[in-house]
Amino acid sequence: MKNILVTGGAGFIGSAFVRTMTQRYPNYNIIVYDKMTYAGNMDNLLPVHDEPNFRFERGDIASRASVARVLGEYQIDTVVNFAAESHVDRSILDADAFMHTNSIGVYILLDEGRKHGIGRFLQVSTDEVYGSVPVGFSVEGSPLAPRNPYSAAKAGGELMARAYFETYRMDVLITRGSNTFGPYQYPEKLLPLFITEAIDERKLPVYGDGRQIRDWLYVEDHVSGIDTVLHHGASGEAYNLAGEDLRHNIDVVRALLERLGKPEALIQHVPDREGHDLRYAMSSEKAAALGWQRRFTFDVGLAETVRWYAANEWWWRKIKTGEYLEYYKRQYAARLAAAEE
Ligand code: NAD
Ligand code: DAU
Repeated sequence: MKNILVTGGAGFIGSAFVRTMTQRYPNYNIIVYDKMTYAGNMDNLLPVHDEPNFRFERGDIASRASVARVLGEYQIDTVVNFAAESHVDRSILDADAFMHTNSIGVYILLDEGRKHGIGRFLQVSTDEVYGSVPVGFSVEGSPLAPRNPYSAAKAGGELMARAYFETYRMDVLITRGSNTFGPYQYPEKLLPLFITEAIDERKLPVYGDGRQIRDWLYVEDHVSGIDTVLHHGASGEAYNLAGEDLRHNIDVVRALLERLGKPEALIQHVPDREGHDLRYAMSSEKAAALGWQRRFTFDVGLAETVRWYAANEWWWRKIKTGEYLEYYKRQYAARLAAAEE
């Protein structure tokens, strides 16, 4: 492993992976390839911009010619694919971009990777491919049963990755991470949206009764899990990366308000997400057997996350303008109005 292509490396988890890997492995060349959608942000890569083992290329994983050029030019031997449309609510509004990137894009990346004779290909997937899990914990052999356009398109991508292992014996790995949080997360997801809105004392739109359950994983733990699987995982295998820290949404919201010293009166229950998955829960015993262990509890991760957003308004205030405000209106205006009636 020497020349690693990190696709989607300007987003939340991809950039955390890049910030860690450039330091931890100075002998690896890390090449970020990113389309720079609304979620791609060069500010996320500022800490590594001048590192000698870091390069950036702008491009779409679904563009064959552009992928082929980068694979050849940098003599890529390893691909870690973070590139995705990642927000469930946006996929419910319009799924076009989700199919393009999460399914077709993964196929193009695999296919060009195979033609260029690359070694490892790690597909970053999600616990959402198991669908809603009312009781118990998903293991890697549990059926895939995605229930929203985002997770269905992600399942398509990882099934194709598995097909390239079975058909062409390509050295493919899959990770399925749970709900990830931490610094540099785009403020459309629950925690960064609610932390930044609460700082400004605006209403926090909790979907339905807030009794849905998510399993929270701090971003540095997700990154160390991917690093472990990349170096020690067995070809063709999938690995769950779970925080194993399950919380009801409403308790997460209360905890962040308490940390910020803001009133619970900011909580506004609004009409629920369509087809809302009620519970995600996985076991990560298989990744633990490779030596991966989570280091941050939810409470420790939350304290650091709240601290970071409070200290880095320069990062998120400029995001919350223009297209972002239009999206916010499309997603929340009617919901908030309905809740106030
Ligand atoms: P993100 O939305 O913050 O970042 C996605 C990045 O991919 C952005 O930089 C964007 O510009 C880039 N991108 C999008 N389409 C592209 C394309 N066609 N070609 C090249 N680049 C493209 O997402 P994230 O939260 O960092 O998630 C990263 C990966 O981890 C995704 O694959 C996601 O499905 C998976 N995942 C996320 C979580 C989570 O809780 N955030 C949990 C488990 C798995
Ligand atoms: O589980 C892994 C997945 O976690 C990743 O694959 C996705 O990329 C990531 O976006 C995340 O998906 P969720 O839909 O679980 O995350 P989100 O932050 O959008 O929502 C978390 C929970 O909070 C969910 O039950 C919906 C609820 N929620 C979310 C928002 C944005 C609200 O109640 N109000 C909101 O405004």
